[in-house]
Amino acid sequence: MRTAGPEYWMTNPGITAKGARKEFIDPEQIPWTDWLMPGTRFKLLYCNLVTGSFTVILQVDAGSVAPPHWHIGNVQAYIIDGGFYYDEDDKGETGMYTCEVAGAVHSPTSPQGTTMFAMVDGPIAGYGPEGELGAIADARLHYYIAAANDAVGHTQLVDYATDPSVGMHSMVPEAAK
Ligand SMILES: [Fe+2]
Repeated sequence: MRTAGPEYWMTNPGITAKGARKEFIDPEQIPWTDWLMPGTRFKLLYCNLVTGSFTVILQVDAGSVAPPHWHIGNVQAYIIDGGFYYDEDDKGETGMYTCEVAGAVHSPTSPQGTTMFAMVDGPIAGYGPEGELGAIADARLHYYIAAANDAVGHTQLVDYATDPSVGMHSMVPEAAK
């Protein structure tokens, strides 16, 4: 059997399983799942268990102050509604974009509440009241939390290792073998 070499892969980058999901989904069909702090909830749109990135719609109730947390990867957020801020003189409002950069440690506040679309590149580490590391919230944790709430039926999941419906090499045409 000939192994597919670089020349094959240059023009055949592979495919991510779509399963029974449609190309477009209405997030209204996804139930909210309680997030990691009181008064917050999320919908998991995309979850890549290979790279650890994931995409959510996150809703935060008015008056919420996030506990201090450390971003191990970047988070890009677009504010759909409401707003939040880290500093009084630099406020994020509806329609604004921010990138919470990897390495940032902060404790944002949202007096009016907010709904945002957020693309997360890596885990978020939460600190406890004594400054101790309390939790590492990665893509897999988000998937497990949402799955326990039966809220992953529309999630675009990428998991090459454990999805039994997709053989690792089933996309390689016979001619390339
Ligand atoms: Fe943050």
